Amino acid sequence: MALTFRKLHPTFVAEVSAVELRRVGDRDTLDRIRAGMDEYAVLVFREQMFTDEEQLAFAQRFDGVLHTKTGAAALGKSRLGTEALADISNVDENGDLLKSDDRRRMYALGNRLWHTDASFQDPPGRYSMLSARVLPPVSADTEFADMRAAYDALDAELKSKLEGLRVHHSIAYSRQVLGFEFSPEEQEKLKGAVHPLVRTNPRTQRRALYLASHASRIIDWPVPEGRLFLRDLIEHATQPQFVYRHVWRDGDLVIWDNRATMHRARPFDDGKYRRELRRVTTLDIESQAI
Ligand SMILES: [Fe+2]
Repeated sequence: MALTFRKLHPTFVAEVSAVELRRVGDRDTLDRIRAGMDEYAVLVFREQMFTDEEQLAFAQRFDGVLHTKTGAAALGKSRLGTEALADISNVDENGDLLKSDDRRRMYALGNRLWHTDASFQDPPGRYSMLSARVLPPVSADTEFADMRAAYDALDAELKSKLEGLRVHHSIAYSRQVLGFEFSPEEQEKLKGAVHPLVRTNPRTQRRALYLASHASRIIDWPVPEGRLFLRDLIEHATQPQFVYRHVWRDGDLVIWDNRATMHRARPFDDGKYRRELRRVTTLDIESQAI
């Protein structure tokens, strides 16, 4: 079917014309969406009334194998019954709001740091698909930053300095920054992973900074020097000209390319209002999708 893309930011992000993704299964339409992802890195689909099963099935049709080794999975079983469906919410298994000192809430607060999903795993995350199910009556937005535009804006000297650098990503590190500690048994499941600092989209050859709050050090560099350098790069890459703020509407599905963007949740009064979204992330491996 014919799809059109309306740009929502000067360098990335587009809203896609009406389509019912839970019923999309033909290769032609899926390829158009994949091409849209290559061009815009973030796509917004309106009025997608997914059940959990439909969202999981769409993610697999679209991009293959699902990521399940989340940080939350190391903390305990998901109320949703599968680790492939990340519970981006502030409610417990009884549907009650999490208390302010609940460990799951404190863990989830780490999503307010700029990050890219599952960079602490190998293979890391490729596409994340976040579905809005219950939204609060106050703003509770998500910001995205364009890591391709941020890379392009670096001067030639800095680009050559980045060449070949590799970075260790660890969710234990990003949570420690906020004062959250995993137990030794939990850390055992979350050892982290090493990825290049600059990644290239194999289909378009476009390069992007691969940064995240999980980025703990640069391999072969003194740790403080690497952390300072990563901090400078994140500061550069999250300047206003590279950032889009998504204001959620009921039924939104947003897909982003974790290889080419960072994102963060913005604060709201989560002790007062319910907010429930579901995320599915695919692994960055050769796609087995249709
Ligand atoms: Fe995330």
